[in-house]
Amino acid sequence: MKTPLVAANWKMHKTVRETLRYAHSIRDRMPTVNDVEVVVAPPFTALHALAGVFAGSAIGVAGQNLHSEPHGAFTGEVSANMLKEAGAGYVIIGHSERRHLFGETNETTNAKLHAAIKAELVPILCVGETLAERESNETFTVISRQLESGLVDISPSQATALVVAYEPVWAIGTGQNATPEQAQEVHAQIRKRLAQILSESLASGCRILYGGSVKPNNVHTLSTQLDVDGALVGGASLDVESFLEIVAKSRATTV
Ligand code: PGA
Repeated sequence: MKTPLVAANWKMHKTVRETLRYAHSIRDRMPTVNDVEVVVAPPFTALHALAGVFAGSAIGVAGQNLHSEPHGAFTGEVSANMLKEAGAGYVIIGHSERRHLFGETNETTNAKLHAAIKAELVPILCVGETLAERESNETFTVISRQLESGLVDISPSQATALVVAYEPVWAIGTGQNATPEQAQEVHAQIRKRLAQILSESLASGCRILYGGSVKPNNVHTLSTQLDVDGALVGGASLDVESFLEIVAKSRATTV
């Protein structure tokens, strides 16, 4: 049985002060049982402060993005080692907002994945189709390409910690989540594709998260699906009560 992973993606929300308030509250109230892994991805500016509060707790910290080079003249960018030293153990790679708003490609995603693995950060690789792609029956083709190109030259032994997040673009921030059946169908395809690209055993052990309008009232049915191993939560993770409820409801599915 895989330990479910619930990751909060704050996007461009919360100052350091707001982060500290949230961090103390969630750390003090998070049950200490370790049947679910919890990670929070704050903006870069709050990452070090958040990691300081979570130090010694079971809650992890993630970067929302990284640059593929270790250092250099890349104004506005942050490297894997910078994230690591600031306290991150994970990093989100290829989020659809990075792909669609900032022009990231499958190739840049692949370079970032290499950088994350080299720095021993757990990569959370995001894939997902747009509404137009779903409506023209291209969902599996698009996701298959994102996985294949994203994982170029990555060996199964390098990918042991890999986490994949299926985030249909049409479900992100829209309040319109994929149905549990839609999520399960794509997650099963992702697992099958991972087995072809990497290996059977890696695919069966890989956690595939669902993301896109996950809320306290839909997380349970989504995460009881066979191939759904947790959630990547945007809007509903910004509020402590709502995020704690999502974590609790993800935990209940493991028994
Ligand atoms: P959402 O965002 O939960 O607000 O839809 C999810 C994400 O983009 O990771």
